[in-house]
Amino acid sequence: MNLTNRILAAVALLACWVFAAQASTQDDLAKRLEPVGQVCIQGKECSGMDVAATPGSAGGAKSPDDVISKHCNTCHGAGLLGAPKIGDSADWGKRAKEQGGLDELLAKAITGIKAMPPKGTCADCSDDELKGAIKKMSGL
Ligand code: HEC
Repeated sequence: MNLTNRILAAVALLACWVFAAQASTQDDLAKRLEPVGQVCIQGKECSGMDVAATPGSAGGAKSPDDVISKHCNTCHGAGLLGAPKIGDSADWGKRAKEQGGLDELLAKAITGIKAMPPKGTCADCSDDELKGAIKKMSGL
């Protein structure tokens, strides 16, 4: 141990002593040492906290309405960039026919198609969540 380390160790010891001296009882000390906030580690259970550890896993599935209002509505609400409008079952039906069904529409929604970005910007949406949104928008 060189001199600097010794001084550092002494300072640290002194700081602990001052801190301990200020705490009048053991309970007091324990309270002071309590963590201010809790840390949630991904993959570990987060007690008492409603935080999604991995996108789309905890917290339940996103509802079709949620997905639509947060992501799809931007374009599909008004038919932006030629997007099939929400509720325009004729347009959706034509597309479903062209692609070969709802699952094919889903596949296109996942990869993106022309002006539509992959997953319609809902990067953490599961396939099922996207499918729910497509069903709701198309009425298929
Ligand atoms: C940035 C605008 C934009 C957003 C956001 C968007 N879409 Fe689209 N979407 C489009 C456009 C444009 C088309 C039409 C593409 C074409 O055929 O030219 C389209 C087409 C589709 C189709 C039909 C694909 C096909 O094969 O004809 C599906 C299904 C679809 N969108 C699902 C979704 C879902 C689900 C969301 C929300 C999670 C979403 N879109 C968000 C622009 C968007």
